Amino acid sequence: MSDPKIIVALDYPTADAAYALSSQLDPQRCRLKVGKELFTRSGPAVVEKLVNDGFDIFLDLKYHDIPNTVAKACQAAADLGVWMLNVHAQGGGAMMSAAREAIGHSDDRPYLIAVTLLTSMDQTTFEQLGLQGSIADTVLRLAKLTEDSGLDGVVCSAQEATTLRGQHGDNFQLITPGIRPANSEQGDQHRTMTPKQAIDAGSSYLVIGRPITAATDPMAALAAIEQSLI
Ligand code: C5P
Repeated sequence: MSDPKIIVALDYPTADAAYALSSQLDPQRCRLKVGKELFTRSGPAVVEKLVNDGFDIFLDLKYHDIPNTVAKACQAAADLGVWMLNVHAQGGGAMMSAAREAIGHSDDRPYLIAVTLLTSMDQTTFEQLGLQGSIADTVLRLAKLTEDSGLDGVVCSAQEATTLRGQHGDNFQLITPGIRPANSEQGDQHRTMTPKQAIDAGSSYLVIGRPITAATDPMAALAAIEQSLI
């Protein structure tokens, strides 16, 4: 079984637009991320269809609620056959432990990961929330809480990957967005890393959207990224 490192972000408003892209992609060569827009518009059916088409799906809904509610939502996501799902670490240890318990212990259970702090969080927002200390220390503290709660890893910026890889073992999954191949458009992303830099920094999987989805030939764009990783 191949273990593709690239997770293509299906940031589309309709299922048809998502399928137009997924039908050009090979499930042996990439995984897919379904986020809040596509899921809210198209529902679980889009996930089920992509799973049936052979894709590993990262369901990026970032659950954050009371432990019982998050646990039930995670169970429902696992029942859809997703490969990975996520919660907010700021929901706390009890919430994360309940989520972990809910997805079970079978060999084919999904990966359960957490968002520490959103990368959109700046110092002003951080202080508005009454959070103490630095953003960097808070990310490390929440990543530790994530691992202590039995989860498999975190979403983080590639800039944080080296420190997090040093703090956690090789089995801790680091999922990094904000990836831009050399010479590609930055778009609204700041402080990007190339795919190779991110993997060298300790990333386990790379979330890549527009460099692949906006390419005239998405498989060629994917192939070029794969080549850059060798
Ligand atoms: O098109 P692009 O490669 O910028 O897409 C990145 C994907 O990763 C988007 O789905 C975006 O929402 C997601 N993401 C991110 N930064 C985070 C968390 C998720 O860009 N911190």
